[in-house]
Amino acid sequence: MHYGADYYPEHWPEERWEEDARLMQAAGLNVVRMAEFAWTRMEPSEGAFNFGWLDRAIALLGRHGIRTVLGTPTAAPPAWIMAAHPDATLIREDGRPVTYGSRRNYCPNNADYRRHSARIVTAMAEHYSGNPLVIGWQIDNEFGGRCYCPVCQAAFQRWLQDRYGSLEALNAAWGTEFWSHIYSAWEQIPLPWAATGTHNPSLALNYRRFMSDSYVDYQRAQIDILRQICKDVPITHNMMGFGYPNLNYFDLARDLDWVSWDNYPRLRGEPDPAARALAHATMRGLKGKPFWVMEEQAGPTGGSTVALTPRPGEIPYWAWQAVAHGADGIVYFRWRTARFGAEEYWHGILDHHGIPGRRYDEVRSMGEVLERMGDRLDGSRVSASVAMVLSYDSRFAFQNQSHNPHLDYPRVFASLYRALWKRNIGVDIVPCVAELGRYRIVLAPMLYLLDADTAERFRSYVAQGGTLVMTCRSGVMDMDNVVVDTRLPGLLSALFGIEVEEYDSLEDGRAVAIKGVGPLQGPRGEGSAWADVLALQQAESLACYEGEYYASRPAITASRVGKGRAVYLGTLPDEALADAFLTALGARPEFSSLVRADSGLEVVERTADHASYLFLLNGTGDEKRADVGAGGHEWITDREVAGEMVVPPLGVRIVESPRG
Ligand code: GLA
Ligand code: ZN
Repeated sequence: MHYGADYYPEHWPEERWEEDARLMQAAGLNVVRMAEFAWTRMEPSEGAFNFGWLDRAIALLGRHGIRTVLGTPTAAPPAWIMAAHPDATLIREDGRPVTYGSRRNYCPNNADYRRHSARIVTAMAEHYSGNPLVIGWQIDNEFGGRCYCPVCQAAFQRWLQDRYGSLEALNAAWGTEFWSHIYSAWEQIPLPWAATGTHNPSLALNYRRFMSDSYVDYQRAQIDILRQICKDVPITHNMMGFGYPNLNYFDLARDLDWVSWDNYPRLRGEPDPAARALAHATMRGLKGKPFWVMEEQAGPTGGSTVALTPRPGEIPYWAWQAVAHGADGIVYFRWRTARFGAEEYWHGILDHHGIPGRRYDEVRSMGEVLERMGDRLDGSRVSASVAMVLSYDSRFAFQNQSHNPHLDYPRVFASLYRALWKRNIGVDIVPCVAELGRYRIVLAPMLYLLDADTAERFRSYVAQGGTLVMTCRSGVMDMDNVVVDTRLPGLLSALFGIEVEEYDSLEDGRAVAIKGVGPLQGPRGEGSAWADVLALQQAESLACYEGEYYASRPAITASRVGKGRAVYLGTLPDEALADAFLTALGARPEFSSLVRADSGLEVVERTADHASYLFLLNGTGDEKRADVGAGGHEWITDREVAGEMVVPPLGVRIVESPRG
């Protein structure tokens, strides 16, 4: 288990480093991430490298048992590079460049910027190759943004040429007939700059795919250099969880050895444990492997404003929640709060003065537990019997055509996840192409774009006994973002045994009453955001509308295909109805050791060959109880437990029981 902090030795006098390392070691920290914003310090002018300071920091930390993940520094371009290459500046949607300052202000397709990036990455790789204290690399920092510059436009045109082969094919696939947009030369194809109205949806979607690919490609150029020179040292990138909408994280993760992400539960508003859980599950799902939190909140966040300070107990509670969901590394942002710069109010473990306080003590208390048992979690995996299919293609398409403000793809996705989370059901987040056979239930909400391959795999998953749940706005588009020419849900109609006769976009925020019927008899609730009016072909109705002109028409349906079931939600059910509906599907936690838990207590299981670890996480302000049956060793309080346990507010318990 890696436990550490993001450290910026270049922000502090060198005389202080020893004290920092001593305090880190005393808190149980064994890793730091460094250098990801230190380009000018490492290369003050072209080709003049200065690694002495970093060598000394790495060595000094090493003497305290702390190893280093090095960040490549390309997220914050030096002034001397951007002054020499004004064209490397990111151009906004309105066609105007951003100004120098802040960060993430470069174009990922710019050849000059790529040349400079390759040079600093090569120099770092050559300098640190073979250094046993450098145990990993982080590429850049929080990739994101979209560039609308002429270089990107030309690159987009080439990207389209690869994809479509000919202009005829592109024109046909996009329906450029509409508004006379038929292209007769590749150079005519624009980027979706700010325009007088809506762009062609096929153009808009492909630009988003292209921009995501541009960062994947820019990242790969750095990875290639590091792999060649540093051989087996693993490589990551720090992502932004489920919430970040502009990159296809499945693609970005493919070239990496491991995924990491930045977790700030108190960025704004009250922390939401279900949202955190979804973010962790998403990051775990990118490679189907354990991940790290590369920046775990350790103090009040802030730029020009300052957010609430983490309440006592929150810091370790958040970090343990990450571990429960599959994190094998927790790295706090940041060690000590900067005294200068744009983030002088983004607080770390230590405040500006550098004297350890309450937050340091909390970090240390978790460090003590990890020293005792952290290694036991090695190789354990989070148990999940349910999968949710995340489609960045569909998400990108909705960014261009949001339908209505209540039908937000990530919000709908998160609300269905939340219904599962509340029941403590382990959920994997998977891409469309995932192997689904090992899941009892698969939910694929708002799978707007659908190809025949995916439709066929879904069908065979159901035929072989799976339960598939899909929603309105699925199977609407082909992969070019053009509406299918059959009744909805298009390629899924036969599987679900339904046809959408009409739909009603509830854009004014109205809800329509629904009541359960047949096997779901009893519960009443509301649907919102959208209402498909369904005609049954080979399905039964599980719920009907009670209002609007479609009262008594089916709202939720189920069909039997082979050994499985295909369930369709024509509208978005409220929480109570979603819960009743999950009960009817037989959705329950997969772990056996837990007998019962109070509602509000989050329970997650990690299993290894030798043992299983039941994490009980109380994110509420009240005591919660759980009956852990035969129980086992509890690692936070370090004692044997069985039967009923009490978990205090913001408390965590980890019960180990032997397996097999
Ligand atoms: C992000 C970045 C860090 C830092 C923190 C705090 O997650 O990766 O460099 O800026 O936020 O703002
Ligand atoms: Zn560009």
